Amino acid sequence: MNSKRSEPWFNERLNSITGQKNWCKQDEIIYNQTNRHASKLNFFYQAFEFISENSIFGNYHEFGCHRCRTFRMALLESSRHFLENKMRFFAYDSFKGLPKVEQDHEFGSRWNEGALSTSKDEFKKLILDSGFKLDNVRLIEGFYDVSLPNIDKKEIYSDEKASLINIDCDLYESAVPVFQHIDSLVQEGTILYIDDYFSGYKGNPQKGVSLALNEWKNSTKWKLENYRDVGYAGRSYVLYK
Ligand SMILES: C[S@@+](CC[C@H](N)C(=O)[O-])C[C@H]1O[C@@H](n2cnc3c(N)ncnc32)[C@H](O)[C@@H]1O
Repeated sequence: MNSKRSEPWFNERLNSITGQKNWCKQDEIIYNQTNRHASKLNFFYQAFEFISENSIFGNYHEFGCHRCRTFRMALLESSRHFLENKMRFFAYDSFKGLPKVEQDHEFGSRWNEGALSTSKDEFKKLILDSGFKLDNVRLIEGFYDVSLPNIDKKEIYSDEKASLINIDCDLYESAVPVFQHIDSLVQEGTILYIDDYFSGYKGNPQKGVSLALNEWKNSTKWKLENYRDVGYAGRSYVLYK
């Protein structure tokens, strides 16, 4: 019997994967990264279509920028909707990697102090090398517990609100000051993307970034409606009153 003909879902891709004898760890990493970033890119496409269709005027804020992957997705998809000159793009990071915290996330050295570090210059170079401009990009350097409470919101944001907020900073301790900070940036229709909803802690929503989100949900006046799930760990919401 011809198995390809009898199993309509069987395709060349599946055949090539199961048939590959020398599949190694590096292949798995590339495979995961490729699929993960494809779903993130698809999310950014959908988010900017939502923003454009609903005329949500506001800026992009990313908390946790590292290799500038999602930040460039935001630059790309905003430009595809002719929004790149109508909004500003804020990148908040220590630019020195993760802070030191006591952890039980079971991610070992992946989340140690200093892990996931990209310098400001490297970050800017990634933007420029991809053909984007820095004109509407602003880098806010520092660990959030110190940098965010010290931001002069009137001066930096001039009363502009957020259209899309991306929280991708892995740790509960990092996310708490971020949620405190964004409360006044949110407007009706802001999309909130939590990259690490199910990262670490065996996906327990009462730990990590999802705990910080749930604490904020209980204290803010904003209501959250589920929007898209993103990759294996991410979630997003549309905010409303
Ligand atoms: C997973 S990476 C972000 C990945 C990025 N969005 C991308 O697509 O390439 C996490 C980032 O969060 C930053 N970070 C985590 N906790 C922080 C804190 N408390 N203050 C400042 N930056 C922090 C790290 O420096 C790191 O760049």
